Amino acid sequence: MIQNTSFLGEEERTELVDYLYNKTGIDYAEAVFESLDACVRRRAKSVGIENAALYVKYVKDERSCGAELMYLMEPVSTGETFFFRHANQIKAFTKLMVQMVADQRASGDRSLKIWVAACSTGEEPYSLAMIVKDLIGDENDWDIILKATDIIPQRIEKARTARFSERSIRHVDEEHVAKYFTANSEGDMPYALCDEVASMVEFHAASLVSVSEEETNNQYDVVFCRNVLGFLDETAKKKALSTLHDRLKPGGYLVLGPAESPSGLSDAFQRCPYSVHNFFKKPENPVGNGQRAEASAAMTEDLFAAKRLPHLIDLVQFIDRGTCDIRVDIDSSLSSAIEMLSAVADALNALQDDTKLTAEAREKIEQMDQQFMRAMLFLQVGDRITQKSEALRASLQELSDYLIGDDAEAPDLNVSISSFDENILPAKSDEERDENAMSQDDIDALFGS
Ligand SMILES: C[S@@+](CC[C@H](N)C(=O)[O-])C[C@H]1O[C@@H](n2cnc3c(N)ncnc32)[C@H](O)[C@@H]1O
Repeated sequence: MIQNTSFLGEEERTELVDYLYNKTGIDYAEAVFESLDACVRRRAKSVGIENAALYVKYVKDERSCGAELMYLMEPVSTGETFFFRHANQIKAFTKLMVQMVADQRASGDRSLKIWVAACSTGEEPYSLAMIVKDLIGDENDWDIILKATDIIPQRIEKARTARFSERSIRHVDEEHVAKYFTANSEGDMPYALCDEVASMVEFHAASLVSVSEEETNNQYDVVFCRNVLGFLDETAKKKALSTLHDRLKPGGYLVLGPAESPSGLSDAFQRCPYSVHNFFKKPENPVGNGQRAEASAAMTEDLFAAKRLPHLIDLVQFIDRGTCDIRVDIDSSLSSAIEMLSAVADALNALQDDTKLTAEAREKIEQMDQQFMRAMLFLQVGDRITQKSEALRASLQELSDYLIGDDAEAPDLNVSISSFDENILPAKSDEERDENAMSQDDIDALFGS
């Protein structure tokens, strides 16, 4: 519902929301409109254009070089990032690089092309550069291209300075800090990355959803696109995945964030040994839908006829991914429901304190309060679901260890869920979990059993 006090009129609102959608893939329409309106009002004032139509013109003007985007995207998209983020994915990438570098050395084609889309202030591409540098050392006959892009020009500028805060480097081990950074005590960015690594990365401001046609397809061995698809709507996600797919070489890898998946959006990617870490492979020989269905039927037949281990491993990984996706959905729905319920609890408490209430109104509020408590208890059942999904994952891990034995490629199936916990959810101690969990008595009382 648009308030009469909106800074943007209907026409400017449509123009700005359309522009932002085409540029970013983020749908600003109803959901974030009020915070966008407040943000636009603030920005217009600070750039000295207090007329809404003129401000929209200014945002769209190429001469502002997209700089206003940063402020308008603030309510919906953060730039949170740090070195070696999502440790399990970084380990998987290191393993993949060891293999790729060895293959390239053997074939004599010493080239490696990596793209980090949505790189924010550079910590992610520089982490990958350090890993590559560790592997190839001073060999100078390599053709390495490490490209990094982000939609926000100010973040790209900051990335190019290659200076970082204590917080950004908190997960870099001492050896790498000593090897690749110099520290001075001045300012809030005391760590400077050495030129040797900094010069490996080429930065550009670019959007994932309105990419340049000049870019060549089939060029990258690996593309990282982590923690950004979640901000986009379905159409924009599909468009971004299709671009990422086009830019990859056949056989190349796409790495998404731990809570992201192409499932339901694109079937152009294949599962691979690193899929539990959200790595998706562009097939060497793309197959159509019909062929894919046939391949999957053949796989099931094969499995029972020939008991072929790799297919069983694929199935285990597929179930693992499914349980992880379910858990992600449950967690995000629970946290938004709990947020809303807390707002209701505050409102009810405030009402109960009102001395002018009639007896009838007070009774109604008490009834609502009781219903509300029941809803809260019901939501805590989420913790039970979590325990069950952890148990299922533990059995899958056991099965996977049994099937794969000591093979070095054996996937660690618990990792994607723990990395999700570690990186997305606020940390919870065991005591906190116990305190919040529902007792069996609570559950019996709630369901009357
Ligand atoms: C949460 S940060 C993730 C940074 C990094 N990939 C990581 O995982 O640490 C999300 C970044 O995506 C960028 N972004 C949002 N929409 C984008 C788009 N349509 N095209 C390119 N970058 C975008 C934002 O500017 C922000 O820097």
